Amino acid sequence: MSLIFSGIQPTGNLHLGNYLGALRNFVRLQDSYDCIFCVVDMHAITLWQEPAELGKSTREVAAAFLAAGIDARKHILFNQSQVRVHAQLAWIFNCVARIGWLNRMTQFKEKAGKDRENASVGLYVYPVLMAADILAYRATHVPVGDDQKQHLELARDIAQKFNNDFGQPFFPIIEPIIQGEATRVMSLRDGMKKMSKSDPSDYSRINMTDSAETIALKIRKAKTDPHPLPETLAELEKRPEADNLVGIYAALSDKTREDVLREFAGAQFSAFKGALSDLAVAVLGPIGAEMQRLMKDPGHVDRVLRDGADRATALAEPVLAEVERIVGWLKP
Ligand code: TYM
Repeated sequence: MSLIFSGIQPTGNLHLGNYLGALRNFVRLQDSYDCIFCVVDMHAITLWQEPAELGKSTREVAAAFLAAGIDARKHILFNQSQVRVHAQLAWIFNCVARIGWLNRMTQFKEKAGKDRENASVGLYVYPVLMAADILAYRATHVPVGDDQKQHLELARDIAQKFNNDFGQPFFPIIEPIIQGEATRVMSLRDGMKKMSKSDPSDYSRINMTDSAETIALKIRKAKTDPHPLPETLAELEKRPEADNLVGIYAALSDKTREDVLREFAGAQFSAFKGALSDLAVAVLGPIGAEMQRLMKDPGHVDRVLRDGADRATALAEPVLAEVERIVGWLKP
């Protein structure tokens, strides 16, 4: 049976990359799959989070799921720390995963930076917890942006090694779903850098709660080159900033880059940016407004998360019990 699992970290500044690379796809996929969506607050603390902010950020990401159109009654939405199975299964997977595998993770290298000795151990084993998130439900499909591809390969390796070591096909082989025209949205200030929550410049990203004026201002200030929009994809690919804006337009309007070029080839960036602003405001405006509304009703968001956690626990506990039996732990 197919089952989708995916997660988003509550580390502030949910942005257009999270929306186009992940949330927008989740909303589509919920019509064809059973889905479990998770606000991964255990992953969040691999880097320092102010305790007073973490709860608020957790509710904000939950609100984004709901505002984007996730049906939390039909599917499951919860925050990770409420379901203890994730941590318990992660421990077993820590003993399956190899140090050599983790040493290859590029995101750890990026996030730990130069002072690797000073990074948390949690940051190092971050992808092991990701594998536990997915496999606690024996989920089969994982929609993510391009930056999570390597982590999902590791999750696959963990599932395969567990199956081999214990001689039974217990865990499914995970299929990533990385789709659409915006699997890697880039910074608005630098077409070679990913749009990210942690970029110090707020002008580098469009936040999901930005006002219409702020969205328009950020797009107007977005870095471009002096040439008009090209006619072909081959020409576009050589121009990272132009490629990024065309990709964003394509994803927001459910078109391909080719469609967008057909419409805008030869146009100046000033005209294209105007059209892109209008489109971004039309798509994100209502979602941002609904997020703000939900944030004013934390009781409601908390009830959704509590209910989701109860249903997630009911699914994950039998899987963990079976894993513990396979491993050989005595449960008298
Ligand atoms: P996170 O919180 O960094 O990002 C959430 C989702 O947004 C995607 N994304 C992007 N997509 C396109 N362009 C961008 N610039 C961009 N930035 C982020 C991410 O690929 C992701 O899909 N480790 C995960 C969370 C996680 C998870 C999991 C995901 C924890 N457990 C299990 C899937 C399955 C993360 O940090 O995502």
